[in-house]
Amino acid sequence: MANPSLLILAGDGIGPEVMAEVKRIIAWYGDKRGVKFDVSEDLVGGCAYDAYGVPLADKTMAKAQEVDAVLLGAVGGPKYDTLDFSLKPERGLLRLRKEMDLYANLRPAQCFDALADFSSLKKEVVAGLDIVIVRELTSGVYFGEPRGIFPDNEGGRFGINTQRYTTNEIRRVARAAFEMARRRNNKVCSMEKANVMESGILWREEVQWVHDNEYPDVELSHMYADNGAMQLVRWPKQFDVIVTDNLFGDILSDCAAMLTGSLGMLPSASLGAPMANGRPKALYEPVHGSAPDIAGQGKANPIACILSFAMALRYSFDMGDEAARVEKAVEKVLADGVRTADLMGPAAGTPVSTKGMGDAILAALDASL
Ligand code: IPM
Ligand code: MG
Repeated sequence: MANPSLLILAGDGIGPEVMAEVKRIIAWYGDKRGVKFDVSEDLVGGCAYDAYGVPLADKTMAKAQEVDAVLLGAVGGPKYDTLDFSLKPERGLLRLRKEMDLYANLRPAQCFDALADFSSLKKEVVAGLDIVIVRELTSGVYFGEPRGIFPDNEGGRFGINTQRYTTNEIRRVARAAFEMARRRNNKVCSMEKANVMESGILWREEVQWVHDNEYPDVELSHMYADNGAMQLVRWPKQFDVIVTDNLFGDILSDCAAMLTGSLGMLPSASLGAPMANGRPKALYEPVHGSAPDIAGQGKANPIACILSFAMALRYSFDMGDEAARVEKAVEKVLADGVRTADLMGPAAGTPVSTKGMGDAILAALDASL
């Protein structure tokens, strides 16, 4: 059988630096575990604009549709701020999500014991935290029509975006959340604004429908998204799986990420329908952005990107044990006190570089054999 295929799109800013450490882990799997991948690389975001004049070239898009999984670093940077909206680096990422139809974005927020002191919240609030946000990723206000900036008839302008969800779009992401809950603690909390938005009423009704008809064994609750944000910082351990729309999911997942101490720790998986080979269409990326302020300095924390590769092992390649091996290696280096600059806090000591963190994780992987 052919090796599974990976397309690496390291992107902009710290993307290439953190992805370099993932490439070493992929190589480790080939050398030490006999798990080989066919890896190809291409450009997305600002670097793609520089090379091809667009944030995602058609040939890159076609390649992404063919591979078993895409690994993405980050996109964007101040250099591209003045580009036309349609050419901005983010459009490349949004095109991948939309055309691959990656409707279920899994964003786990787990607090490693060694980092419980780094959260801006009290230790007892975050210690042992383990929740997953399932964010709808291909619809809602990110993609709804009409959209645009238009002249009004008072000599000014108006901007418009449309929040639109269909039954099918809500039901399929709800199923992804219920499936996830069954593998965890069997609880789903759905978040919307049914008190002010019709699309929120539909969201609530359809999630309830999927529950009642297909997953009555899972505990389901509903919450307004603003209350959800408050509950996330008040007592996040009340949640197991949160399912929410594209925009609320964007905001709530940044909030959940910070509970764990650093945005540099959080991986994500974006999954679509199964392909002919049974694997889901899939893209894996860290939740953090391109961090232009520290790009090129070898300071960035590669853990979120490495844990995203672990999610690929679990969700695309059915290697849950190997995913756990990578996760345990990360846990071990953190417990040993290895820290990139973002994890230093006010404590004294010398942070390791991006590569230094990669070295430590590779050593922990070696030790796991
Ligand atoms: C995310 C990011 C993206 C989003 C940006 C880069 C387009 O914030 O993945 O959370 O808004 O979805
Ligand atoms: Mg975001």
